[in-house]
Amino acid sequence: MPLEVKDLEVSTFNGTKLVKKVFWKVNRGEISAIVGESGSGKSISALTVLNLLPENLKVSGKVIVDKIEPLKLKGKELLSFRWEKVAFVFQDPNSSFNPLLQVGEQVIEPMIYHGKVSSKEEAVRRGIELLELCQVPNPRERFFSYPHHLSGGLKQRCAVAMALSCSPSYLIADEPTTALDATVQKKILMLLKELSLNGLGIALITHDFGVVEEVADKVFVMYAGYTVEWGSKEEVLNSPKHPYTKGLIECTPKLSKAKKRKLKAIPGSVPEPSKEFKGCPFYPRCFKAKEICKEEFPPYTLLDGRGYACFFPEP
Ligand SMILES: Nc1ncnc2c1ncn2[C@@H]1O[C@H](COP(=O)(O)OP(=O)(O)O)[C@@H](O)[C@H]1O
Ligand SMILES: [Mg+2]
Repeated sequence: MPLEVKDLEVSTFNGTKLVKKVFWKVNRGEISAIVGESGSGKSISALTVLNLLPENLKVSGKVIVDKIEPLKLKGKELLSFRWEKVAFVFQDPNSSFNPLLQVGEQVIEPMIYHGKVSSKEEAVRRGIELLELCQVPNPRERFFSYPHHLSGGLKQRCAVAMALSCSPSYLIADEPTTALDATVQKKILMLLKELSLNGLGIALITHDFGVVEEVADKVFVMYAGYTVEWGSKEEVLNSPKHPYTKGLIECTPKLSKAKKRKLKAIPGSVPEPSKEFKGCPFYPRCFKAKEICKEEFPPYTLLDGRGYACFFPEP
């Protein structure tokens, strides 16, 4: 039973569609990477899963998490869904912690609030175990540190530990390594991979195909509010069908692979959501575009667990 976002559309009350047709799916024990440039609607679709969108936005489409529909939940049910079923890790670890409280206190707060432990002592013991699981060195001491005592990478591990506080089935991590340096980034990714191998389903939001290559099992590529291509990591990386996916892959620097190639950039930028399109939103930036791409949104080609929306896919 997966976490599924189906045909999501999110618009403002004045009618601007921020997300037009987005779908993605995460199975337990797997990492699905949700990839796209800034402004493609990744964060909005992730916040929709937790029913956390600001009030100025309205949603149509469905989110189904192990048969539960979070968009229909209210009050206590919604609160327990948020930590016990699906937890969230944000891009900037600084925004996850209150600077005035010890880190450990904050890691265990959800499990106390949600009645997962019978005493404060048990919570502290589990909190230290969680820090250890997230590879925080000296977890016993770190538990009592204040956020400003910790480096960015360490703080992000603590944020993952906090997200695991109520043993959720799924974790949504929104660019969890974007604010960190490369070495720390790798360690956080390895931690996420290990957690997924132990059964957690992870939606990993990123704009970086390097991250995808490192840890993803499945990939969903988003552009300007649409899911434009999806498949297993191997399928998408080795034979991208959508020119946008191909372009993103070609923009990713590679250091270790023997085959040298020139780093490219995709010309132009993601269109503003207020810009209306009849055809393919990637048309103005696409090197393969023809007249029809301007006129019609390309039909989705659906294959087994794989798909794309392009009139002139890569061979
Ligand atoms: N509350 C909001 N009201 C109006 N527009 C918004 C709001 N939140 C995000 N947007 C716009 O929606 C688009 C998609 O945003 P977002 O999901 O944050 O993109 P991504 O995470 O892929 O970078 C962006 O153009 C952004 O400016
Ligand atoms: Mg974002």
